[in-house]
This record gives sequence, C-alpha cells and structure tokens, in this order.
Amino acid sequence: MKKVEAIIRPVKLEDLKEALGKYDIHGMTVTEVVGCGLQKGKKEVYRGTEYTIDLLPKVKVEIVVKDHKVDELVKLISETAKTGEIGDGKIFICPVEHAVRIRTGEAGEAVL
Ligand SMILES: Nc1ncnc2c1ncn2[C@@H]1O[C@H](COP(=O)(O)OP(=O)(O)OP(=O)(O)O)[C@@H](O)[C@H]1O
Ligand SMILES: [Mg+2]
Repeated sequence: MKKVEAIIRPVKLEDLKEALGKYDIHGMTVTEVVGCGLQKGKKEVYRGTEYTIDLLPKVKVEIVVKDHKVDELVKLISETAKTGEIGDGKIFICPVEHAVRIRTGEAGEAVL
C-alpha cells in the first residue's frame, strides 16, 4: 500500500473530488493546510522582505491505495490540479506499512 499525499490549490478541490468520484477509491482525508514551496509563499520578492517566509493556504488530500493504482491516481491528480502557474502544488508518495479497519479488525490491504 502507498499513501498518495497531494497538496493542491483550494480552488481545485471540487474538481478533484469530482474526478475522484469517477475513480475507484475507498477513502480519503482532506485537510486545510498552509505551506510554501520554492517561492517561499511569495508571488514577488520585495526589497527588505526576502528573508521572511509567507505561508499560503492549500488543501492536503491523502489517499491510501494498493501499489498498482498509484500511477493512475497520480496522473489523475496532476491533470486535475494543474493550472501551469507557480503554486499548483506537489504530490508525495509514501509506503504504508499496515492498516486496520477498526469496526471489523480487518488488516492490511483488506482495509482498502
Ligand atoms: N518540500 C516540501 N515539503 C513539504 N511540503 C511542500 C514542499 N514543497 C511544497 N510543499 C507544499 O506544497 C505546497 C505547494 O507548493 P508549490 O506548488 O508552491 O511548490 P513549488 O516547488 O514552489 O513549485 P512551483 O514552482 O510550481 O510553485 C506548499 O504550499 C507546501 O504546502
Ligand atoms: Mg511555489
């Protein structure tokens, strides 16, 4: 299992939810976050402020899937969340060691 963690523009969340609705996912977690990337949260750097970091609102979407679904999911998120402008976001993929469905006690991939 892998966790696909996408940090995207808040305005893209509805589009992504719609796209995911047509995709076979079995759960997701969405969190409002703030963050910065290469530009340190600034659209432009002004004299005197270059050492401070600004944090911009983003949305983090976490989806745990079986390994063979990762590429397709990453493609879907990338296509949906892209505007081509700076600040479109990033996708991080991490291994998931174990999972448990609390209600039934099922474990591992059976949870998905
Ligand atoms: N290295 C990182 N570690 C953790 N979170 C990150 C990292 N880079 C970006 N993020 C998160 O992703 C959000 C969007 O990043 P952003 O799209 O601005 O990345 P970027 O590398 O600056 O690319 P771009 O040049 O397209 O803006 C950030 O606000 C932050 O929440
Ligand atoms: Mg950036």
